[in-house]
Amino acid sequence: MNAQPKALFPGTFDPCTLGHVDIAERAARIFGTVIIAVSESSGPGTLLPVDVRVQLIAEATAHIAGATTVPFKGLTARYGAELGATVIVRGLRHGSDLNYEAPMAIANRAQEGGLETIFLLARADHTRISSSLVRDLYLHGGNIDPFVTEAVAAYLQSLKFPNTEQPA
Ligand code: COA
Repeated sequence: MNAQPKALFPGTFDPCTLGHVDIAERAARIFGTVIIAVSESSGPGTLLPVDVRVQLIAEATAHIAGATTVPFKGLTARYGAELGATVIVRGLRHGSDLNYEAPMAIANRAQEGGLETIFLLARADHTRISSSLVRDLYLHGGNIDPFVTEAVAAYLQSLKFPNTEQPA
């Protein structure tokens, strides 16, 4: 019998949401080992530095046996292959996610290691959650509690961004 494949769950996780935690839990049930790989790249729209993004998702997934969190830079496929992963896991909320994911999955499979991407459909109640929505609510002083873990909400609320509009 073949060994169970090791899965890489890459993302920006800026910040991680309940949707990400659910995908990590389900991937661990299927694959046993899930490496949550946090991209170090911080583009112009990135709110949190990579060390904070790593810390938050590591805490949010600490209850998942077989899940570990690491930062990475460079090509996802190369990094996954170096770690011995054979599968990339990504969540899909709706059809437009597939338009974004399909070219990445094809490109990743074309790299050395030939990692396959497996998509897990988001839970119905997670289909409207996104990191950008959380960032936008947060920066305007909105309620992010329904979308993130308590620890993520508490951390963000402890920060004072200069442009954050706090509720009256
Ligand atoms: N439930 C809820 N939300 C979900 C979800 C789920 N199941 N799955 C994804 N999302 C959301 C996220 O909240 C986020 O929302 P946003 O776009 O509104 O902010 C979005 O979907 C995707 O974010 P995330 O999961 O953090 O991943 P990403 O798309 O930022 O990650 C990388 C992209 C890092 C995997 C990709 O850019 C990459 O591989 N980079 C490394 C360089 C590389 O190899 N490039 C070539 C790739 S072919």
